[in-house]
Formats: sequence, C-alpha cells, structure tokens
Amino acid sequence: MNADRSDLASRIDMTKPHPARRYDYWLGGKDNFQADRDAAEAIAAVFPHIRTAARENRAFMQRAVRFLAAEAGIRQFLDIGTGLPTADNVHDVAQRIAPESRIVYVDNDPLVLVHARALLASSPEGATAYIDADARTPEKVLADPALRETLDFTKPIALLMVALLHFIEEHEDPYAVVRQLVAALPPGSYLVLSHATFDPLDAETIAAMDAVNKNIKPVFSPRPLADVTRFFEGLDLLEPGIVSVSDWRPQAGPRPTPAEATGYGAVARIG
Ligand SMILES: C[S@@+](CC[C@H](N)C(=O)[O-])C[C@H]1O[C@@H](n2cnc3c(N)ncnc32)[C@H](O)[C@@H]1O
Repeated sequence: MNADRSDLASRIDMTKPHPARRYDYWLGGKDNFQADRDAAEAIAAVFPHIRTAARENRAFMQRAVRFLAAEAGIRQFLDIGTGLPTADNVHDVAQRIAPESRIVYVDNDPLVLVHARALLASSPEGATAYIDADARTPEKVLADPALRETLDFTKPIALLMVALLHFIEEHEDPYAVVRQLVAALPPGSYLVLSHATFDPLDAETIAAMDAVNKNIKPVFSPRPLADVTRFFEGLDLLEPGIVSVSDWRPQAGPRPTPAEATGYGAVARIG
C-alpha cells in the first residue's frame, strides 16, 4: 500500500486499455480513460451483452459474499483481482451482515491502488487492507505483512478470485496459482471463483471476439468448463456446482441466459 506518487504516476498508462478500467466502464463507472472506453466499445460492438455479463459477474460475487457472511459464518475475505471500487464492494456486503468482517484486497492495477482508500473504508468493528501485488506471484501475496496483520490464518477465510483468472495465460499456470493460495488456507475456508467462457457462444461471435481480443493486453483467456473445473480439484463444490454466474443461487425473477452472462461461477469448501 506504500507506493510513492512518482512511482504510481509512472505506472499508470492512460494510452493502453486496462481490464479494471474497461470493466469499470461497462459497469457505468467514471474511473476510465479514452483508451479503455475505445477497447470496451470495440468489444461491445461484437458482443453487445458485455455490460450484462459484467453486471451479472458482479452480482454473482455479491450473492456469494452474502451467502458466506450470512449462512456460512465467514468473517475473513481475501479478494484477489479486486477491481476499481464501485457500489457494494466485498467489505460493504460482508460488513453489512457482520460488521466485524476483515477483508484484504489485492490488485496489480496502479489505478486501483490510487482508489484503494475507498476500499479501506472499514466499519469500526472490522478491518480492511490493500496489497499492491500480482496474482501470478502468490508467494508475494502470502508473504505480505498486511495479510497476516489483517487475517487470522487459524480461522476460515474466503478466497475470492472473481473475473481474474482469464487474465492469466495457460503458460503462466493459473491452476498452480489457485492451488498455492488454497493450500495456505485453513480447513473450513472457501473458494469463490468466476471465469469468462465462450462455451455458450456461436462460432461467428467467437471469431469476432477473438479478432478484437488479439490486440489486447493482458491476453484474455476465456476457458471451457473442463478447464474451469480444474480450479476446484480436491475441493467440495457447493450446490449448484459450476454454472453460469446468473444461475448461481439467483434471486427470483427473470435472468440472463448463459450466452449473455458468458461466465462460470462457483463456490467450494476447502478441506
Ligand atoms: C474484471 S475485473 C474484476 C473485479 C472484481 N473481482 C469483480 O469481479 O467485480 C479484474 C481485476 O483483476 C485485476 N487483475 C488482472 N490481472 C491481475 C493480476 N495478474 N494480478 C492482480 N490483479 C489482476 C484487474 O486489475 C482488475 O481489477
């Protein structure tokens, strides 16, 4: 959390789109630059449901946190790939149910770091911390003093990796990243994960998306169900398993189809 201003300024590149800022734009936020809006609009031009997909992913995260805080008794959360602060971040949802909840946020986008103060607005009974780190080096996340100062590793922790792992390429072994983090958590902990997929899309839409995405960094790697299932190896998936984010314990009423939501979501119990 202690980056000096000149270092931060040099890390924020307004000329290249960033995933956190693009997602913020789709969610209707203001923390994005022209390059982000252009990239976001290029994707929306070939996949008009992208805003629905972003909103549905966010709503999945919020339902999962509500379930963990209200029904599973979880009071500690480690949210990796936090995104820019927006309405109902993890601590807002958890602390509304249990004000003593403690949350550690992790992201590698310098603009998220600039806005981290909003993520640190904890209830007086609970605590929040922010770690500026890359998920591809989980050992650094696990070694950061802010993590152990904020979370008690003898009590269950919910690890959230929501709409993050599709930014980690196959050769960077995202499965090992998840394994390493899960292995550090005590029994009774949970994994909350969502992941973009092209499974429900037709070949024409996939080709158009691939054409747009090939110019974008970090590389976007949507995965099929078989690969998403690998993230949960050895864990106990809660009902209803790995489903379209919109179909994970939904509220009553109409909801988007899997082809509109284009993301899998699931929650699993660890050990
Ligand atoms: C699509 S947003 C998801 C935000 C939030 N988890 C949600 O679902 O509402 C993805 C976030 O992951 C972050 N991210 C991408 N690659 C990352 C990496 N290698 N390490 C840490 N954060 C990363 C981006 O900066 C961005 O904030």
